[in-house]
Amino acid sequence: TSTNATSVSISGDISSQLHGGYSHPLSRAWQADRQLTKSMLIYPLFISDSPDEETLIPSLPNQHRRGLNKLIPHLAPLVRKGLRSVILFGVPTAPNTKDALGTPADDPDGPVIQTIRLLRSKFPSLFIVTDVCLCEYTSHGHCGILRDDGSLNNALSVDRISDVALAYAQAGAHCVAPSDMNDGRIKAIKLKLIEAGIAHQIVVMSYSAKFSGCLYGPFRDAAGSCPSFGDRKCYQLPPGGRGLARRAIARDIQEGADIIMVKPASSYLDIISDAKEIGRDLPVAAYQVSGEFAMIHAGAKAGVFDLKTMAFESTEGILRAGATIVVSYFTPDFLDWLEN
Ligand code: PBG
Ligand code: ZN
Repeated sequence: TSTNATSVSISGDISSQLHGGYSHPLSRAWQADRQLTKSMLIYPLFISDSPDEETLIPSLPNQHRRGLNKLIPHLAPLVRKGLRSVILFGVPTAPNTKDALGTPADDPDGPVIQTIRLLRSKFPSLFIVTDVCLCEYTSHGHCGILRDDGSLNNALSVDRISDVALAYAQAGAHCVAPSDMNDGRIKAIKLKLIEAGIAHQIVVMSYSAKFSGCLYGPFRDAAGSCPSFGDRKCYQLPPGGRGLARRAIARDIQEGADIIMVKPASSYLDIISDAKEIGRDLPVAAYQVSGEFAMIHAGAKAGVFDLKTMAFESTEGILRAGATIVVSYFTPDFLDWLEN
């Protein structure tokens, strides 16, 4: 006549009993397909052409625009804590340096190429990614070369973007990451790398599924890359364009991309998942962009949630969707928070 709770639950459906499986911090960690590690993180750096500059970006909490002389003191402690990779964005600040062709992008004395050389010599094991775009360097702030009517001239833009990528690769970048969204740039870059005899040592990471929207504002404050007219809606993807993103991903893989990226991250987790499905044989990266980072900081500041908890939760969501590389402004924080 045993009618206690134990025998009731044993005679019931034991498949309903899940709590035991995640009853310990370690068994909880084991529930993830992939756990966040320091080697998954790429840290964005804004490099000013003014060597002694160190300016806090008000809209991008804790992030600075730095000149060449300020980089090593900033990075040395991070490298000691396990920083593995950075992505470089050049910011020309001197008056009258920008033009219609984005000439300062691959200036051998410009901030990106100088930084590649400096970091290669000071931190031999640091993996250097260079964003490849023209918007920081053009007088009009668009991501390519324009026709008279203000639209992108795709052929001229691809030619210029691939020249810039080649220049960064020849200066010693390990990875070139075109974010311009011109059609056919991956193929053009690969062909130029092959022709130069260095294709075997350069990773091409394509910003394949890069959506237009309002989440890049703080970045544009930091990089001074806001378009002087119009917007980027005719080259960055429309937020509802899941099919378009899938086509762009497939196209870039076809053209020889080594890594594909989805950006922004948290509002586009379905696209990250699609990218992993379409690109199951290559790594998928996600960029948690400036607006996402600023939003998390704002929420924490308003007392909505704890900053660290939300930084982890958002990043774990990005990994769960399928990414194994995350470009993140939280990288310095994660170097403190993570064991490895
Ligand atoms: C350059 C570029 C942008 C970002 C990465 N590369 C800005 C843009 O497209 O306007 C955005 C990154 C961020 O918001 O953190 N094309
Ligand atoms: Zn751009």
